[in-house]
Amino acid sequence: MNRYIDQLRIKIKQKKAKVAIVGLGYVGLSLLIRLNELGVKCYGIDIDKKKIDLLKKGLPYNNFFSKNKVNRLKIKTVFSTSYQSIKKSDIIIICLPTPITKNKDPDMKSINDANKKIQPFLKKGQMFILESTTYPGTTNEIFCEKLSKKYDLGNNFFVCYSPERIDPGNNYNKLETTTKIVSGFSKNCKKLCKEFYQSILNDVHEVSNLRTAEFTKLYENIYRSVNIGLINEMKIICDKMNLNIYEVIEAAKTKGFGFSSFYPGPGLGGHCIPVDPFLLSWKSKEFDVQAKFIGLSGEINDSMPYFVLNKIVTALNKNKKSIKSAKILILGVAYKKNIDDIRESPALKIIDLLLSNHSNVQYYDPFINKIRINGKKEMKSLKKNISFKSFDLVCLVTDHDLFDYDKILKDSKIIVDTRGKFQAKSYKVHIS
Ligand SMILES: NC(=O)c1ccc[n+]([C@@H]2O[C@H](COP(=O)([O-])OP(=O)(O)OC[C@H]3O[C@@H](n4cnc5c(N)ncnc54)[C@H](O)[C@@H]3O)[C@@H](O)[C@H]2O)c1
Repeated sequence: MNRYIDQLRIKIKQKKAKVAIVGLGYVGLSLLIRLNELGVKCYGIDIDKKKIDLLKKGLPYNNFFSKNKVNRLKIKTVFSTSYQSIKKSDIIIICLPTPITKNKDPDMKSINDANKKIQPFLKKGQMFILESTTYPGTTNEIFCEKLSKKYDLGNNFFVCYSPERIDPGNNYNKLETTTKIVSGFSKNCKKLCKEFYQSILNDVHEVSNLRTAEFTKLYENIYRSVNIGLINEMKIICDKMNLNIYEVIEAAKTKGFGFSSFYPGPGLGGHCIPVDPFLLSWKSKEFDVQAKFIGLSGEINDSMPYFVLNKIVTALNKNKKSIKSAKILILGVAYKKNIDDIRESPALKIIDLLLSNHSNVQYYDPFINKIRINGKKEMKSLKKNISFKSFDLVCLVTDHDLFDYDKILKDSKIIVDTRGKFQAKSYKVHIS
């Protein structure tokens, strides 16, 4: 019998375990909202003072989070930029960013910073869970090695890894209905981790160790990146052969087995798919393996904004217009539909390329008021009632549901469609 394990198990069962969440972005705040709905006392920690000030007032900092749900957090949750509340917590969950550097190596600044800051507030009996997406070995190398000097891991302190799988903008795959992978430093750690997540969501799947869980999360995202790279390459070939890639996909889907459909686009965006695969290719070099599929799909996906530029140039030329000084409207700059996230969005690259070709570019996105190109030029979104006729070319980059596609098709002179929304219904549509 182990009193630390027993005490934590009882608290988890009775929803009395206090939870500190470090990093209140898409992942951390989604989790906090779920815990709050279940009546769990939480501490929300973030270095971004603006976010903390808004959350303290019960206000969401973006439109991904519902006003009502965030407003309800005020009653029970304590928000702070300080890490002190960790000493009052039973469970500490890290949901920090894990970006890559320009050279595509892991940038563990946030994780290392948090690791340093949490140490003075840790105590026996706590469970630590890392949820950030990261390379295999991170939990052991960064956290366990340090913690094992002070604690008897698995007996008086528990270390776990459980990757998040949220899908911003998608109302079907909710946190509570998506199976959660759980893993731990030891059997006891894994058991506690499993019991905790079983108490807050529908289904968990345990794997044998921390590195397997870390690898699984990366594999899921690499699977997407590689398949998107493949379909983007198919699109380029179809284009050369004068075939419609969307017709090919619809036909291939009728097979019913051995085929999963992926769709081409203007390039990858978001914090996950363009970034995470490189966490594994970086680590695999340590094992003398070159991750070829990761590099190749990254290359194809990164080249898509250039393909779009080329389509724009050709479509304008066919209409006796030049890219130089052409009046171009970019529709949608978010990296995917119906969200206000522009991280790594291919729209930014496309606009940058158009500006360097001296086009007169404007954009409209109902979710994003302003953007910065190359960290310098600031652009503001046009307002809702746009005269599509006044542009030489309209390029659909993000297919938000809010757009009036009939009007766009009717009024635009030329459309470059990167999302297959119009599927060449008209002579003026160019699939890109
Ligand atoms: N967004 C997604 O769809 C998604 C899905 C699954 C997994 N993930 C992974 O989850 C992790 C978090 O992603 P996210 O999208 O929530 O990131 P995010 O950028 O939206 O949020 C991270 C938060 O951490 C805060 N932060 C940064 N450094 C900090 C520090 N030292 N101390 C305290 N707070 C700090 C930031 O201010 C920000 O609010 C990443 O590893 C990501 O790859 C993201």
